Amino acid sequence: MLALDPTQLNFALDAGLHRCASLQQRLDTNAYRLIDDEPGGLTLDRYDRDWVLSLLTDVTPQDPQSVAQAVALGTRVATHLGHKLHARAVYLKVRPRQANTLVDAKQAGLTPHAPVFGEAAEEPLTILENGVRYGVQLNQGLGTGIYLDQRDNRRWLREQAKDLCVLNTFAYTCAFSVAAAVGGARQTVSIDAAQTALTQGRANFLLNGFADVKQHDLIRGDVLAWLPKMARRGDRFDLIVLDPPSYAQVDGRRFQAARDYPVLLAAALGVLSPGGRVLACINHAGVDEQRFEQLLTEGARLAHRVVLTLRLLPQPVDFPSGRMKAVLLEIR
Ligand SMILES: C[S@@+](CC[C@H](N)C(=O)[O-])C[C@H]1O[C@@H](n2cnc3c(N)ncnc32)[C@H](O)[C@@H]1O
Repeated sequence: MLALDPTQLNFALDAGLHRCASLQQRLDTNAYRLIDDEPGGLTLDRYDRDWVLSLLTDVTPQDPQSVAQAVALGTRVATHLGHKLHARAVYLKVRPRQANTLVDAKQAGLTPHAPVFGEAAEEPLTILENGVRYGVQLNQGLGTGIYLDQRDNRRWLREQAKDLCVLNTFAYTCAFSVAAAVGGARQTVSIDAAQTALTQGRANFLLNGFADVKQHDLIRGDVLAWLPKMARRGDRFDLIVLDPPSYAQVDGRRFQAARDYPVLLAAALGVLSPGGRVLACINHAGVDEQRFEQLLTEGARLAHRVVLTLRLLPQPVDFPSGRMKAVLLEIR
């Protein structure tokens, strides 16, 4: 873990400013990760003039004193960084190191509603990524409405999407789908189990001028139930995005990416057009590139399909910890 004293923080900040120099100069992007001490547990993300500090600590969420101590530590760190960066606001997210018990971080007081440094940002806040607008909320629990580590993959999708039918599974706030729409996709379909995420997703389409709800369809439901249903009724897609969480439970069904990815890919291949491609992502510290490729190869085998190419896409410059892996698959 990064020592949280001012000298170490300044060092991490300088390293981040150096690493992200090219991002800071861009006028079409104002959200990225400045400090990525992912294995140690401190991350600092920029959302235009506001910042989100995330700290992995040994906090006991059920113990108010332990929570108060962790928030006090986070507030000291946020205040130091906020002054240095001339931030309008710094929001704090405390993440328990022992994540084996399911904790509602907001409920436990680990994600204070108000910024711990500066003045509150407007909610939702609109950020810019490669010229695309996305709404984010910095004061609503651990999530903000966008996963910044997918920025380069969203740009890639946008560059590929012209005239294609794109399926975005585990769509969350439809950030991939909106990127595809901006790139000229003929159709996008986004599936997610959470209505709140899809509502923000619709707002993200509208923010970028896409009002046609038939062309950009949103489905609330379980991806693993919908894929076979879509396959049976003959829906086909040229490009499919698979970006599931590491763990989830929907309608009593548990999903574990490290275990279930082959079944997920096999189901997705049932709705892939001939010559279609899959962008498969995983964000799991316990699954390295080699293991991920094995899981994908196993998925193609389950579906009796052949992997023509399997290409690892590069990691964004602001996420040197490399936790997220993205693979492009061409399938016969
Ligand atoms: C890690 S986020 C996905 C991020 C998203 N791919 C993006 O790039 O913004 C996880 C999302 O998966 C959804 N989810 C989890 N399990 C699901 C399931 N079985 N079916 C549909 N959605 C699911 C959650 O509601 C959540 O919005």
